Amino acid sequence: MNSVEDSSDHGRGGLASVGVVRETNDGERRVALVPKMVASLIGKGVDVIVESGAGLAALMPDELYKEAGAAIGDAWSADVVLKVAAPNTEETGRLRPGQKLIGFLAPRTNESGIAALAAAGVEAYAVEAIPRISRAQVMDALSSQANVAGYKSVIVAASESTRYFPMLTTAAGTVKPATVLVLGVGVAGLQALATAKRLGGRVTGYDVRPEVADQVRSVGAQWLDLGIDAAGEGGYARQLTEAEQAQQQQALENAIKGFDVVITTALVPGRPAPRLVTAAAVEGMKPGSVIVDLAGETGGNCELTEPGRTAVKHGVTICSPLNLPATMPEHSSELYSKNLYALIELMLDESGAFAPDFDDEVLAAACVTRKEATA
Ligand code: NAI
Repeated sequence: MNSVEDSSDHGRGGLASVGVVRETNDGERRVALVPKMVASLIGKGVDVIVESGAGLAALMPDELYKEAGAAIGDAWSADVVLKVAAPNTEETGRLRPGQKLIGFLAPRTNESGIAALAAAGVEAYAVEAIPRISRAQVMDALSSQANVAGYKSVIVAASESTRYFPMLTTAAGTVKPATVLVLGVGVAGLQALATAKRLGGRVTGYDVRPEVADQVRSVGAQWLDLGIDAAGEGGYARQLTEAEQAQQQQALENAIKGFDVVITTALVPGRPAPRLVTAAAVEGMKPGSVIVDLAGETGGNCELTEPGRTAVKHGVTICSPLNLPATMPEHSSELYSKNLYALIELMLDESGAFAPDFDDEVLAAACVTRKEATA
């Protein structure tokens, strides 16, 4: 157990409280807790305070929160502050020692932000650090949001494509189905394969973790085997050696030529995105083909990707949308809320007070700063 300063009793009637604050990042439309989950928290004996307008961009006005039993007020004063994105400097300045914060805090890449939270004495929980174990699946915000991104990547590809996805037999002729290749088949990639399949595409998946092959086949896709095994720790991929990378790029260059759509989702934790699609591979694709690169935030999987932009190169449309989950704020917020609710539930004791047990591996891993053991 930790020994942070007790910061309880900030809710109404001395109840432990949770605060839902407004997101301030450009384009961020998600909210950390949707009205539906307010009643569940109140049922646990927790007070909910919502910053005015916190849910507006997700089409959830203050009235809905009030109807669900929340107070509209100073959410930053609550015992536990819920966020989607990591707080900026000004927001961190609003937090007090011992206060708890939960959000996407980017513990591997946001060193200065984490250091500022530690210096402020905040007990911060990064949802990215929740272990990928069965018991924690309900709290796995990386998965819930990656699912949204994977689905939307296919919608973006279909919208940019000059061709149909499904095979069509019409009086005016027969159209062949689009061929879709998904590179990197984690949560987002698997959802992209399943979505492209539902749209009628002919789908193929590739990953450096060979155990993914069965999952790829289970959604009706073909498995592209390039003979590289780079399974790393904790279910993640490891970075390839230079020789492996060159071998992979060459093999993909040959394979990619045959596809109308390539969706890339390959990530290695804490590293720049692996470069899978070279400029030469793009040049080899048919004009009118589409690449959707979901790894833009860490530099992109395609050599010609311009993070956050859509550009046409060698006749191929290359899209690198950032933060796709924010473009579907209703469902992404709803799913994220359920993740946070499950994490909060784990932190509550029987009396409804926040008493996280750091012998619990989920809480121990998720907590990235606390008073005595700062990161
Ligand atoms: P991720 O977002 O870290 O990476 C996406 C995919 O890119 C991964 O499948 C990875 O193997 C692949 N990749 C990395 N480098 C590559 C390269 N050079 N070439 C081709 N592909 C490459 O992965 P995500 O979606 O976060 O999943 C990570 C792990 O967590 C997986 O093993 C997944 O099954 C597991 N998981 C476990 C859960 C649980 O039990 N709670 C829930 C969700 C995922």
